[in-house]
Order: sequence, then structure tokens, then C-alpha cells
Amino acid sequence: MEIPNRPRRLRQNQIIRDLISETRINTKKMIQPYFISEKGTQRFEIGSMPGIFRDPEDKFLELFKPDFEMGINKIMLFGVVSTKDGGGSFADHKDNPIIRVVQTLKEHYGDNIFVAADVCLCEYTDTGHCGIVEGDYVDNDSTLKRLGDMAVALAKAGADCVGPSDMMDNRVGYIRGELEDKGYKNTIIMAYTAKYASNYYGPFRDAADSAPKFGDRKSYQMDFRNKMETLRELKLDIEEGADIVMVKPSLAYLDIIHIFKEHSPVPVAAYNVSGEYSMVKLMVRENMAVEKDIVLENLTAIFRAGADMILTYHLRDIFKNRWHHA
Ligand code: PBG
Ligand code: ZN
Repeated sequence: MEIPNRPRRLRQNQIIRDLISETRINTKKMIQPYFISEKGTQRFEIGSMPGIFRDPEDKFLELFKPDFEMGINKIMLFGVVSTKDGGGSFADHKDNPIIRVVQTLKEHYGDNIFVAADVCLCEYTDTGHCGIVEGDYVDNDSTLKRLGDMAVALAKAGADCVGPSDMMDNRVGYIRGELEDKGYKNTIIMAYTAKYASNYYGPFRDAADSAPKFGDRKSYQMDFRNKMETLRELKLDIEEGADIVMVKPSLAYLDIIHIFKEHSPVPVAAYNVSGEYSMVKLMVRENMAVEKDIVLENLTAIFRAGADMILTYHLRDIFKNRWHHA
């Protein structure tokens, strides 16, 4: 039989497959998230996210050392606190665990580490919503003020980057204005630009104790039926001064990552979220997949879709098991 085109020729063996491969995961483009809790004695493993912990603020420097030595030098911090109220007063409090950890890490590691910190109120409000609740609605404009305060407090502590994850209107513009005004002109804003109201955040809310006490986040996070709306959000965040724009979650939103890569003048980040991590862990636990293979498949797909960087809970496992050398 004569077949002019045999694509299988280029799949014959591993050497040829490697030779023609287009995409490769790159650990220099990956950020590891951490959950920081108030003072305590030891780390606490999050039940729904095996291998991920809440680390007490005063122990973090010591707990993080082995990770840094493995190669993790880009991190995103989330706070876990017990003091919660209507205005999220702990968000910019000097005893906020992430503010304290940012300070300690930057004093210790200086520019050998890139520290990003989450800017959102849901870890600090008694309602668990990402903003200030008035009646039963999350009020946009009064929330902005608090987000600005939090971003400035983090920048003052030395954060390299702040990540507003609340999806309030004009949050990037407001935070940028506050940072400029207070003299933090080099603080990077990584905006959660296309953040969908997703079912994949469940384990995170368990980890950060940030689940809404009533209702849901659909009046501020995006509707997963929509795609064009992301172009509007992208345009706004760029105009408002975002340095990096993010799509979240990632695996069910590869089309959105692709659209961002085509239209964004600034780098595109993708957040491989908690539920995506936990699904992998569950499959592996039930012997339905080999962890290394499925992790590399997922992360390669996110890079292939167009992400310039990925926030992922898998990064520690990658370094620990040297999967990136595969
Ligand atoms: C807080 C925030 C959330 C995540 C990051 N920042 C949860 C939410 O919006 O409910 C989710 C991250 C993850 O699931 O890994 N606004
Ligand atoms: Zn939030």
C-alpha cells in the first residue's frame, strides 16, 4: 500500500518524539502557593489537598528552607486567620500572617525569591465573601478601599507582587493608584483577570477557611458559559495597570488561556487550582493514573494553550521527584 503521508514516522521512538516535541514544562515559569496561618507549633496537612499544608507564620522560614533548596523561588501566599469581621480588618493588620511572612522572607532572601501575595477579603471577612456585604449584596466601591489598604500593607512589607483575586470592578486601577500614591512604584500586579465562579475551588476554601457563609460568588466572579466577557475584563485590567493577567481555573479553561495569549500585550498566567490538584491526587490514590505522567500532561497542556506561567500546587512534588528532568 502506498500512503504518502505517514505521521507515525515521527512517533517511532523516544528520541524522535523528543526531537520534534513543541512544548516543555519549565519550572522557571511556575509558582508554588502556600497557606500561612497564625502562630502555632506545627504544620497542618489539608485533608482535601494531600501534600499541601497550613504553615504557622512564625515557623514558615524554617519550614520553607528545604523547598527553597530544592529550587522553589517563586511563591504565592494566602492567609488563614481566625479573627474575621465585616470589613475584613485583619487583611491589612500588622499581625496578618502573610504580611509577617512577606517581611521575614524578603529580609532573609532578598531578591533571591519572588514573593506574591493574595489580595482578597474572603480569608478575613466573617461572611466569607470577597468583599464587604451590604444587605445581601457584595458592595463594590467600599471593598476597593480595603483592597487598596491590603495591597499597600503588603507592598510595604516587601511583596514583589500583589494578586487581586476578588473580581471587583476597577480593583486593579484602584490598587495601582494607591501603590503609585504611596510610592510603591515597582510592585507588580498580577490580576486575576478571568476568574470564573468555579466548582474547582472547594479544597482551597477548606484550606483557607474562606467559603462564603451564604449564597455564592456569582455576582462577582465570571459565568463559565461566557467567553467574550473575558476580552472586556482583559481590556480593563490592562488599561488599569495590570502587569500580568491570569486565567483561573486552567484545565477546563484552556480556550480562555488561548484567547488571552492571542490578545494580551502582557504575560499570561494560569492558575492550576485546588480542585484540579485534588482530582489528580484522588485518581492516583485509586490507581487510576501514574502521578508523574498525569501531572506532566496537565501542566504541558496549560503551557501549550499559551500560558507564560503557571501557579500550581504540584510544583513541590515536581522538584522533590525531579519530574522536570524527565
Ligand atoms: C480567594 C481565592 C480563591 C482562590 C484563590 N484566591 C477562592 C475563591 O475565589 O473562592 C482559589 C484557588 C484554588 O482553588 O486553588 N478569592
Ligand atoms: Zn476572595
